[in-house]
Amino acid sequence: MSIAKAPLWRKLREHRESLETTHLRELFSHDKRRGPAMTVEHDGVVLDYAKNLVTAETMELLLDLAADRDLATGIDAMFSGHPINTTEHRAVLHTALRAPRDCSVLVDGHDVVPDVHDVLDQMREFADGVRSGTWRGFTGEPIRTVVNIGIGGSDLGPAMATHALREYMPDELDIRFVSNVDGHDIERALRGLDPARTLFVVASKTFTTVETLTNARTARAWLLAALGDSSAVARHFVAVSSNTDEVAAFGIDPANMFVFWDWVGGRYSLPSAIGLSVMIAIGPERFRELLAGAQSMDEHFRRAPFERNLPVLLGMLGVWYRGFCDTQTHAVLPYDQRLARLPAYLQQLDMESNGKSVTRDGTPIDIATAPIVWGEPGTNGQHAFFQLLHQGTEIVPCDFIGVLEPTHGMVEHHDLLMANLFAQAEALAFGRTPAEVVAAGVPESQVPHRTFAGNQPSTTILLPRLTPYTLGQLIALYEHKVFTQGWIWGVNSFDQWGVELGKALATRIYGEFDMERVNDDGHDSSTHALIQRYRRVRKN
Ligand code: F6P
Repeated sequence: MSIAKAPLWRKLREHRESLETTHLRELFSHDKRRGPAMTVEHDGVVLDYAKNLVTAETMELLLDLAADRDLATGIDAMFSGHPINTTEHRAVLHTALRAPRDCSVLVDGHDVVPDVHDVLDQMREFADGVRSGTWRGFTGEPIRTVVNIGIGGSDLGPAMATHALREYMPDELDIRFVSNVDGHDIERALRGLDPARTLFVVASKTFTTVETLTNARTARAWLLAALGDSSAVARHFVAVSSNTDEVAAFGIDPANMFVFWDWVGGRYSLPSAIGLSVMIAIGPERFRELLAGAQSMDEHFRRAPFERNLPVLLGMLGVWYRGFCDTQTHAVLPYDQRLARLPAYLQQLDMESNGKSVTRDGTPIDIATAPIVWGEPGTNGQHAFFQLLHQGTEIVPCDFIGVLEPTHGMVEHHDLLMANLFAQAEALAFGRTPAEVVAAGVPESQVPHRTFAGNQPSTTILLPRLTPYTLGQLIALYEHKVFTQGWIWGVNSFDQWGVELGKALATRIYGEFDMERVNDDGHDSSTHALIQRYRRVRKN
């Protein structure tokens, strides 16, 4: 059924029209308690959504829509292991990865929780071995650098989390990440490393991803060139995958393999064995805390009433902007340098999950789905793209993410950082009227240039501290936000067929580089000419 023609959708559209000219200034001045009334908190995580272009009625209608679209049933179906990834006939159970040992989650009648904990135990033993030096390299040296080779979900989550939690890493250990098939990436990652003290974690759910396997082969050749004995591979390479056969075919001993399962999507896999490099970096206990934080948010998502449910509120606000306010993009602005990789991580989570144009049953969708997600840490972004947010022509909903207490003691730095976060959200919401500009003594001719329309929506998310636990909460908050939106829009958030065509064409073009020149190679004239140009350079 058409979503756009559903009565509640129409009602929301009419409601939006009635709000079109309402400014956040009015909303705040009419309701002095709007700030606290639109702030919810769970287990230390604060979500202030008061600076969004909504009223209490908007939120009621959005939550009616959530009920109308059976969101509660969807949540229940996901947590109970129903095969909601319909195009791949799979359950979606990243939540089982953080389920406590005494829980039970059934997939086709099989309890997966003991399997999850078996792998966590295996990871713990290995991570402890690497950290303590009992796991040694081929020549007896302790490991000093771990290089995670993976891409997409097998890279972005571990890279983001390792960057965020660097303070928890021992000084003697270095963790590097290689993802791009661009040889410059691995060349730089290997620069200065001692092969005898380097461990490679080859992370790939399918273990067929060209980029990852190419990088892993290059790493193996680099290692063997230095150590000269193929049995060194067993001490310097481990694999994380759901594909045992391909791991063995690559030459990694399945004894050095950490498994996960087809019911864990790549972009949801950080809490699985894909987090091995994170566990080595921060230690097994800290990794457990990350899982516990995610689990706290899982339970909240599953049980809290929608009007106080952080992921549901965040998700429904996104539905509001895409469906009714014509917004194209969504900015993620962490005011914390440690979260610098969060926007890239959320890009994959959101855009690969919900960047779809057919519903679960294959019907073309008649509403806008996932926004373009982008962002940079504050305050850096302020000196780059904030001009457009303040005075451009787009409405860009923003998530400001702040951490109340830093780990450093530089009070001035942190005060300035937080002052900027609060100030930017305030400036975007309320702007500066021409009258205010004139009152500030600005010459008449400059008034239009120095006026700020305001009414730019934002949500502020505050964490008490950035710890493994709160990072786990933040990750699960966004995972469930994305789920909420996908469910409302009726898309399958857990497949990614859209990445296939480019891969197939790249394989074909790659095979053509060595062929004799053909005038009619079946490519369009632009692609044909580009390939020819590259072939000429390559020949030389
Ligand atoms: O091509 C997209 C994708 O399949 C992502 O969904 C995934 O996270 C990434 O590639 C890496 O896949 P793998 O872990 O199987 O190497």
